Amino acid sequence: MKEVARLAGVSVGTVSNVLNRPEMVAPDTRRRVQEAIERLGYVRNGSARQLRAGRSRIIGVVALDLANPFFIDVLRGVETAAQQADVTVMVFNSNKDAGREAGLLETFEEQRPLGVLITPVNDRGEEERLSRLVSRGIPVVRFDSSAGHSGGCAVAVDDVLGGVLAGQHLRERGHRRIAFAGGPFTVRQVRERRDGLARVLGPDDTLTVIPLPDLTVATGRTVGKEIADLPPGERPTAVFCANDLVAIGVLQEMTLRGLRVPADLAILGYDDIDFAAAAAVPLSSIRQPREQLGQTAATLLLEEANQAGDHEHRQVIFQPDLMARTSTTAHVRVNDAPA
Ligand code: RIB
Repeated sequence: MKEVARLAGVSVGTVSNVLNRPEMVAPDTRRRVQEAIERLGYVRNGSARQLRAGRSRIIGVVALDLANPFFIDVLRGVETAAQQADVTVMVFNSNKDAGREAGLLETFEEQRPLGVLITPVNDRGEEERLSRLVSRGIPVVRFDSSAGHSGGCAVAVDDVLGGVLAGQHLRERGHRRIAFAGGPFTVRQVRERRDGLARVLGPDDTLTVIPLPDLTVATGRTVGKEIADLPPGERPTAVFCANDLVAIGVLQEMTLRGLRVPADLAILGYDDIDFAAAAAVPLSSIRQPREQLGQTAATLLLEEANQAGDHEHRQVIFQPDLMARTSTTAHVRVNDAPA
């Protein structure tokens, strides 16, 4: 800034005004300063500015799995709220790795962002580290997660209801042998979706749980293989997948094996990412209001950061919706003889 001031023939304070309150500077002076900035290629030092201001203008986000479009859609909502508040978003991916998550939280303790949004790798994990951030005046809002014992702000969807909607839909379509494909069950969302499904099945229904190490297209392929390899009379007639990536994998495997969806196997996913409706056989899915989740979480975080002592923590739970498409609704009699 000193070099810019010297080149423009003004004080450092005038340069600061051109950068922060340009309306206070005479047009001719403002033009000279801007020409000097361009000629010197000057860029403001954000960290130094934050240090002087004593407050960061950055919120840190730790997403669980950036390979999953669900989190990209949530981040779109975070960005909407951040832009409205003139705050910058820095996104990190824990990639479902507790060690990486711990390293990121340590970095936040040093960098002291305005606040942190996180989907914890383990629902009860990292409480101590997250509490330390809060004790240092860095608010934490959990998204796609419960507040746990922290009592802090959290935003999620009612995943038990999501499982109930899935079970009701499949039973209404005549399915009595239903599989649930998901895991690991340390992930609260997965547990609750399975529990919601189990809640609506009757004594004459058969629930087959296919545990997965991860929720990806690849693990979905293994689910499709396991189901297709069963004798037709023992096969579930429908599978409820813990998310759409798994459902897409099951659809891919069934297609490669020449089995019909939904005639041989109805497939229902969760999240309603854009790829669900765009799939070769449009996938039914339990919709999460993804951008709304992100925008609400970021708004709660900014409120807490700006209100400090006056802030009242809130746990916001959104309702899921059933998006019924071809993969469960194409008209077939469930007892059609499988291929
Ligand atoms: O991260 C796994 C799943 O949990 C996502 O697909 C989304 O459903 C989240 O709630």
